[in-house]
Amino acid sequence: MAAGFKKELISPAPSFKASLSRKRIALVFFENSTRTRFSFDIAARNLGAATLNFAASTSSTSKGESLSDTIKNLEAMQVDAFVLRHPSSGAADLITGITDKNVINAGDGSHEHPTQALLDMFTLREYFGTTKGLKVVIIGDVLHSRVARSNIYGLLTAGAQVGICSPVTLMPPDASRLGVTLFTDLDQAIAWADSAIVLRLQLERATGGYLPSLEEYSVHYGLTDERLERVQKHLLVLHPGPINREIEISNHVADRIQPPGYSKSMLLEQVTNGVAIRMAVLETLLGTASAPLS
Ligand code: CP
Repeated sequence: MAAGFKKELISPAPSFKASLSRKRIALVFFENSTRTRFSFDIAARNLGAATLNFAASTSSTSKGESLSDTIKNLEAMQVDAFVLRHPSSGAADLITGITDKNVINAGDGSHEHPTQALLDMFTLREYFGTTKGLKVVIIGDVLHSRVARSNIYGLLTAGAQVGICSPVTLMPPDASRLGVTLFTDLDQAIAWADSAIVLRLQLERATGGYLPSLEEYSVHYGLTDERLERVQKHLLVLHPGPINREIEISNHVADRIQPPGYSKSMLLEQVTNGVAIRMAVLETLLGTASAPLS
């Protein structure tokens, strides 16, 4: 379904059936977002749905209203689905106990970001033809990353081999039980992999005792042309964004979408794919066809 939506999306004059024309979708964001929020908004509007944009800073949350009361009040306005981003792990699961409406997790704390993983897997499958047997290494702050967790579950389910590469301080304590290959040496990790998902270094952690310094992190875990050339490896590079240029990824690696070079960046392709994937998610949950994702 997402592939069909993407084909139309990138056509010169996109036209979609307004299959969700009577639906109201609340985009409830308690954390900042550019990609996820706008792509859900565009996806919903493409399908004819109305969107309600909630931002914590301009809502009655700033007067102390709870998450539960916020959801109940929006539901009373006859909202059909909630897209929730929240800093607390488990927030999306919590509100499924408060409302009977559809709840889509748009990122909860350091727990999960399922639609990001779906769009990452879609991007990989589009490029390689399949994710089965593909070797994907996730590089960086895996410990705090909801993107990493959802991708590990999703990619393993889809038959990929998954590696994680990070300093030991940023490895999840249960890493050895996740069914992934562990690396602390980035050269070894990229020599192993077909593709890399580079994670945003959460700069607020840099001073929290997890890292000696940003410079040292960049030297050992930054993905650069020089490193790829040294390892003689062509790598398909993904990153969920936002990126810290010249920290976890060099400008050249982030921006190179054409040869020559040892990398191909999918960063903006991922963003386009995010709209198609979120259209497919909304159509599957709220449309009449209720077709499975493909
Ligand atoms: N990838 C991602 O979740 O980006 P945003 O925080 O901009 O939504």
